[in-house]
Amino acid sequence: MQVFNRITDLRKYIDNERKAGHTVGLVPTMGALHEGHLSLIGKAVNDNDVVVASVFVNPIQFNNPSDLDKYPRTPEKDAALLEKNGCSAVFMPSVEEMYPEKVNDHYDFGQIEHVMEGACRPGHFNGVAIVVRKLFDIVRPDKAYFGEKDFQQLAIIKKMVRDYNIPLEIVPCPIVRDSDGLAKSSRNMRLNTAERAIAPKIFAVLSDSVKHYKTMTPAEMHDYAIRKYGEIKDFNVEYVEIADETTLCHLDSWENCEHARIFVALQLGPVRLIDNLRIF
Ligand code: PAJ
Repeated sequence: MQVFNRITDLRKYIDNERKAGHTVGLVPTMGALHEGHLSLIGKAVNDNDVVVASVFVNPIQFNNPSDLDKYPRTPEKDAALLEKNGCSAVFMPSVEEMYPEKVNDHYDFGQIEHVMEGACRPGHFNGVAIVVRKLFDIVRPDKAYFGEKDFQQLAIIKKMVRDYNIPLEIVPCPIVRDSDGLAKSSRNMRLNTAERAIAPKIFAVLSDSVKHYKTMTPAEMHDYAIRKYGEIKDFNVEYVEIADETTLCHLDSWENCEHARIFVALQLGPVRLIDNLRIF
C-alpha cells in the first residue's frame, strides 16, 4: 500500500491508475479506524480496482475545539489496518496541505442541513462539505463510500453530488455495531468501563421504540423514546427525531412516507454519541 501526504503525488498515482484503465473507489475517514470504517473499505475493495482511503482529522468541521483536540489519532495503526484490508493507497495530508489558505465556501443545502446535527453543531456540515468536495476533486473517484451511521452527512453529500453534478456514485453502507448493539465509533474509546456498559442502551431504546410504530404516532414514539432514555441517568439527550429518510423532514404522521427513521444524539460522560435506525 502506498502512503501519500502530498496532493500532487497522490494525483500522479491516480492518473497512472486511470491510464491503466483502473476504476477508483474513495473512502474518506478521520482515522482511529474500527470495523465500521473497514466495512466501507471491504465494499470498496470488492467494487473497484484501486481503493484510496483518506485519513484526515478535518479541523473545520469541529465546532468544539476540545472535541478536535481530543479526537483520537492513531495513524500507524490505521495504515496497518488499511493495508491488511486490501487498500491500495492512503492519503494522510497535513492541515497545511489541505488548507494552505482559508476556504470561504458557504454551502446551504436547505432543510437537510438545518435539522438535527446541523442545528446542534453550527458550521459542521459546511466543513464536511468543503473537505469532501476537495477530496472528490483530488481523487476524482468512480465511487465514494459513506456510512449510514452518519445518516445526515450521507444525505448532505448525496445532495452536494446532485447539486454540482459531480460525476461519481455515492455508495451508502449499513451501520456496523458491536455484538451488544453499540454502533462502532472512534469516540467509543473515550468511554470508561461504567459508561461503556450502559452505552448499548442507546440502540436498545431505538430498537424498542420502532417496534411500536403500528400503535403510535411519530410524536408518541418520540415521547416514548425520550421517556426511556430519561430512565438512564447518565444519558443527557440532545435530541430524538423521527424523520422521513429522503427529506429528513420531521414527521407528524406516517402517511405519505416511504421510509421513516429514528435518530438520537446524546452525551454520555465526556462523549457525544449519535445513532439511528430505520422504522419502516
Ligand atoms: P469518520 O467519522 O471517520 O467516518 C468515516 C466514514 O465511516 C463515514 O462515512 C462514517 O459514516 C463511516 N462510519 C463510521 N462509523 C461507522 C459504523 N459504525 N458503521 C458504518 N459506517 C461507519 O465521517 C467522517 O469521518 C468525516 O465527517 C468525513 C466524511 C471523513 C469528512 O471529514
